[in-house]
Amino acid sequence: MRKLATLATLAAFTAAFAAPAGGPALERRVEETLSRLTFEQKVGQLWQGLGRKVVEPASGDMSGEKLKESFVMDVRAGRYGSLIGKRGVENYNIIQRAAMEGVGIPLLIGNDMIHSVVTTYPIPLALACSWDESLWERVAEAMALETILEGCNWTFAPMLDIALDARWGRIAEGGGCDPLVTGLMGAAMVRGFQGADMSDGLHIAACAKHYVCYGASLGGRDYNAVELSDDTLRNTYLPPFRMAVDAGVATIMPAFHSYNGVPCSMDGYLLRDILRGEMGFDGMTISDWGAVSQLIQHGTVVDGADAAAKALNAGMDMEMVSECYIKNLASLVNEGRVSMKTVDDAVRNVLRVKFRLGLFDHPEIDAAKVGAAVDPAANRALAREAAQKSIVLLKNEADALPLKSGAKVALLGDVSTNDWQMLGCWSTCNLSNFENAALLDGLKADGVDVAYTEAYTLTGRVDAAEIEKAAGQADIVVAAFGSYWETTGEGNSSSKIELPGNQLEVARAVKACGKPLVAVVFGGRPMAFPELAELADAVVMAWNPGGCGGWGIADVLTGAVEPRGRLTVDIPRTTGVCPLFYSQTTTGRPVVVNKNNPFGQRFTSCYNDVEPSALYPFGFGLTYTTFEIKNEKCGIVNDAGGAQLVAVADVTNTGKRDGSELVQLYVRDKVAKIARPRRELKSFARVELKSGETKRVELRVPVASLGYWTKGSYIVEPGGFTAWIASDSDSGRPVDFNLDPEIPAK
Ligand code: NOJ
Repeated sequence: MRKLATLATLAAFTAAFAAPAGGPALERRVEETLSRLTFEQKVGQLWQGLGRKVVEPASGDMSGEKLKESFVMDVRAGRYGSLIGKRGVENYNIIQRAAMEGVGIPLLIGNDMIHSVVTTYPIPLALACSWDESLWERVAEAMALETILEGCNWTFAPMLDIALDARWGRIAEGGGCDPLVTGLMGAAMVRGFQGADMSDGLHIAACAKHYVCYGASLGGRDYNAVELSDDTLRNTYLPPFRMAVDAGVATIMPAFHSYNGVPCSMDGYLLRDILRGEMGFDGMTISDWGAVSQLIQHGTVVDGADAAAKALNAGMDMEMVSECYIKNLASLVNEGRVSMKTVDDAVRNVLRVKFRLGLFDHPEIDAAKVGAAVDPAANRALAREAAQKSIVLLKNEADALPLKSGAKVALLGDVSTNDWQMLGCWSTCNLSNFENAALLDGLKADGVDVAYTEAYTLTGRVDAAEIEKAAGQADIVVAAFGSYWETTGEGNSSSKIELPGNQLEVARAVKACGKPLVAVVFGGRPMAFPELAELADAVVMAWNPGGCGGWGIADVLTGAVEPRGRLTVDIPRTTGVCPLFYSQTTTGRPVVVNKNNPFGQRFTSCYNDVEPSALYPFGFGLTYTTFEIKNEKCGIVNDAGGAQLVAVADVTNTGKRDGSELVQLYVRDKVAKIARPRRELKSFARVELKSGETKRVELRVPVASLGYWTKGSYIVEPGGFTAWIASDSDSGRPVDFNLDPEIPAK
């Protein structure tokens, strides 16, 4: 067994990123600025307020005469370090001018630009299913420009919460259940938002959130407590944050919940020991909305003053919206409950981000420069590409898809014509400012012979006669299933993830007509739909595909582009199996399923009444062609690149169309000190293959990434491992390899 010295080694499977801009020159400017601040101004730097608009846009008078003087005076006096909310470039510039004329420190102005600004991209869970780092980065970079034109220099994204439980509504906002995919997506989005140089006036500060393990809330209930071991925290929930820190993320938002009893907003172990001590983060932390004052409701502080003391002492630099810091820090310092050094250090962290953003050098937005860089048509094309690549084809019996050219299509369901329903849980866009497409628009644009009849709504009526008539006149039926996006996202946990309303009646009615059914499933969470999956000939997981989603889905349905999305969560068969995730720890009684025990043999780890496996597993997704992976080999090499696991396989496109396979490398430590996941994703690669073509694929991962945390140490244990080079987390042939004790795990 070998013990690794630092956490950094765990992040070795990430690309190397440039260190955040800094160094002695920046630190000198931080110190100079800090030294001229009064105590009140320092406290101001630690507050993010709601502020106000300084200009009333509705009045049409943008001359500045209607300045809200008291607000501007507060800004000038340095009572705000930051504001939340978009208020437009003109207001932004007035505010920054006032700040520079007064206290001489510009404000961070942030908002939730998660997957939508003017252009709305697919929700993060959908984007993750593209497994495409370049796409993630390009989407974030395009959003950065639009964000600046909304009068902000900061976004509260990416969300890096590993979500194992489909009941949790916020599963929509992150990358799914896997630390590697979530971490790669997070790092790519940080690079996109912040660019190579965050101070170039064309990029914004990112905020990795919600630190940490928010997605493990008990019962999948939002804001609920989390109980999990330090090992699991480190093995599963911290890696994406570490990858974001390595990518130079400017800010981090601690989560609302309590972790093993301690609210994250006052957890010095998480905020100081791990984030700063182990990960080396030197940016700024910002509380979630009102989270400092909510320590009172948690029952871990007496009052607002106690909340301020405990949060700041734990390492929470800036307070969002609630006013515990601004009201209490003076007396807390006088009483010695908070040291001046603690206040100064927090202000340093805030100033460092402002310098890195270049705000002191160009506090105002150069709207002409940013506007020139925004290309709405290119953004629309990017949103369409993102939708195409996020869609996951789950079933395609008898080649129901792609739609045959000239086929008469009956399109059903209220969502099929509803462009609003394409958007998703953090939509900030105004539909009238952006060219959108619902599914009907997309099919028409792609030249499909389509006739639309509503026939049903997702939660209400089903008109069987309408369905029969429409299906009777068509060759194939395409119908929209799933849930409205307003049922996912923050504050939208659900005790049932089955399809709402009477949607199964729709599927039964179509099948009764003898017509093939293509089910397009919308929604922000994996839903349980085994009967729909049985009845439908094709199932397309469209998620909330964004404003250009209608075009993207149509492109996939018609075969104009290949489906290439792969699930980054498992799709459960029923709510009761949640949380469900492919990388579950092995048990002493693994499930045995056989002919007589389809749900699993008694006294093995199963349920009485449902198959324990996923309906569709993590990593799964069909294309319009087929692939074979063979000649898999795995071994350890120790060359110039260091000690690495090398996995090779031949991948052949065995179908009639060109396409791309997502080759995934999973590993299991066969015998370890603690029970380990049945499989863990270690790497993946997309291979484009012409029909009939074979390519050799090689995947390499550092030996260091084969280890795990246990009892406070990261260890890599020599001995037997099993690897799978596979199309998803359930398939593939096991290939054993051995890690020699002599191989250095660095
Ligand atoms: C609460 C949410 O938890 C967080 O994700 C968001 O960034 C803040 N509100 C600010 O809107």
